[in-house]
Amino acid sequence: MKSIKIETLSKEFIDRRKVKRDMKDSVSSNNSIQVLSDINLEFKEGEMVCILGPSGCGKSTLLRIIAGFDNPTTGKVLIDSKPVTGPSSANIFVYQHSGLFPWMTVWQNVELGVRHITNTLERHKIIMEHIDMVELDGFENHYPYQLSGGMLRRAELARALAVNPEMLIMDEPFSGLDFLTHLKMREEVVNMHEFIGKTILIVTHDIDDSLIMGDRIVVMSPRPSKVLLNQELDFPHPRNFEKEPALRELRDKLYLMLGVSYAV
Ligand SMILES: Nc1ncnc2c1ncn2[C@@H]1O[C@H](COP(=O)(O)OP(=O)(O)OP(=O)(O)O)[C@@H](O)[C@H]1O
Ligand SMILES: [Mg+2]
Repeated sequence: MKSIKIETLSKEFIDRRKVKRDMKDSVSSNNSIQVLSDINLEFKEGEMVCILGPSGCGKSTLLRIIAGFDNPTTGKVLIDSKPVTGPSSANIFVYQHSGLFPWMTVWQNVELGVRHITNTLERHKIIMEHIDMVELDGFENHYPYQLSGGMLRRAELARALAVNPEMLIMDEPFSGLDFLTHLKMREEVVNMHEFIGKTILIVTHDIDDSLIMGDRIVVMSPRPSKVLLNQELDFPHPRNFEKEPALRELRDKLYLMLGVSYAV
């Protein structure tokens, strides 16, 4: 289980092509782009946190910093009170774009995360359970290029979940899924979270996803991005907009915050 604390974090990217070769020249503000600005957040152990925000505001950047793949310009991230200094196998990252290895089959991709399990029978059981879970049985010997976009996403989820990580960081895990598979995977992630209770961070563009899934919702502003809303959601699962007027109200508020005047 993991608690996360983000303290006065900001991130600036420097456009190296515009920086003069002479090291004496300081980097002018024209050469940099401020993405995250003074982000302070705290996530409890076992929370499912959904992060929303306009495209390009820095959501993926924030996830990469939390996962240790990138450094903040200022501030820090603490996981279980320890500063993040690099990636860890305890924190599994599901990428916004496909992260499967193209030269490996679905089976081999899923096996990657459980290769430390020396008991072959047990390893195979875990691999098959997860391939079944995302309904890719029959496709375990297919390579990524032989799968549809939705199947790729499901294979990625299977690989991430098979690892049984302490923390799961997911960047738009349902993008590219058809409507029904999206709902099914969402349900699967909610059930898995209720069952294993691990900390999960999910970036999504889907307001309904965040309201159905999240124990906490974070809304970020356009760049340079600040936290517009950080709210705990205390509604029992399964959640239903028809039965929860407060959830509907919050949905309208989120649409407004993200620049749409009515829920669609
Ligand atoms: N390695 C990088 N070097 C320079 N600029 C970067 C780099 N990574 C991201 N950026 C810039 O930082 C900003 C935020 O990017 P990021 O991918 O975090 O946005 P996002 O909120 O995830 O967007 P989306 O919702 O479209 O996925 C963008 O303007 C992007 O161009
Ligand atoms: Mg992104």
